[in-house]
Amino acid sequence: MARLTKEQELIVRKNFEEYMKIYGPLYPEGCKDFIIEHFLDESFEIDFYPDVLHQIYAHTGAYDFVKNFYDLCIDEIKADYSIDGHIIDIGCGFYPGFAEKLQKLQHDGSVTAMDYDLLTTEHGDIKLIKGKFTEFTNLAKYDLVLGIMPCEATIPMIKNANKSDKDLFIQMCGCTHFENPEMIYPITVGLWYEYVDHVLKSTIPDSRTYKFYQPDWAEYPIIKTMKK
Ligand SMILES: C[S@@+](CC[C@H](N)C(=O)[O-])C[C@H]1O[C@@H](n2cnc3c(N)ncnc32)[C@H](O)[C@@H]1O
Repeated sequence: MARLTKEQELIVRKNFEEYMKIYGPLYPEGCKDFIIEHFLDESFEIDFYPDVLHQIYAHTGAYDFVKNFYDLCIDEIKADYSIDGHIIDIGCGFYPGFAEKLQKLQHDGSVTAMDYDLLTTEHGDIKLIKGKFTEFTNLAKYDLVLGIMPCEATIPMIKNANKSDKDLFIQMCGCTHFENPEMIYPITVGLWYEYVDHVLKSTIPDSRTYKFYQPDWAEYPIIKTMKK
């Protein structure tokens, strides 16, 4: 159960105030009110809340004080890859909280974050790309392609990383809400996982191997591809 001390909460709330002054007005209608209503409410203690709050908890430092979903993802990444390379985080969200956290841990390399919903393209430490990732986005300069719950970017990420022979890490989400012209819509989560596994298997180059598994702590599966 995640809980902040009074002192920690004061720090985090102050950072949140600063954050909302700058980024609050940039969120879509309704989203800002949702964030204000749910920031550090009981959902934080049971560790169950949407991606918009993960991003802000990382940025405001709440995630420096408690074990959290982003740290667990970073541990999974570190188990098979070096984080000291050139990394691109696809579908980073409105604010690139995960990319920011990862960059702070790097000794070398760079982090780029991409999303068509980014609230800003300015950041001192990471490169931000506001745009749509596709099967054809150029990945030549990256060592590792990753996504934390990247929803409909999942399939283009797999196809592109495999075609470009790049290491790939995806912490999946269970979303099936998006249009998927290659499948019958709507689909179940089970069918979605089957389809993802099929795309992985059918596009991976001979020089690579992949893992598709669900750790105990994760609500959804993880995908990893790496050189044999
Ligand atoms: C569930 S959110 C995850 C956000 C973030 N990774 C996090 O963990 O908080 C999925 C994000 O993927 C983005 N997205 C989906 N498809 C995309 C694409 N093809 N190109 C860029 N961004 C995409 C959406 O805009 C959304 O912000």
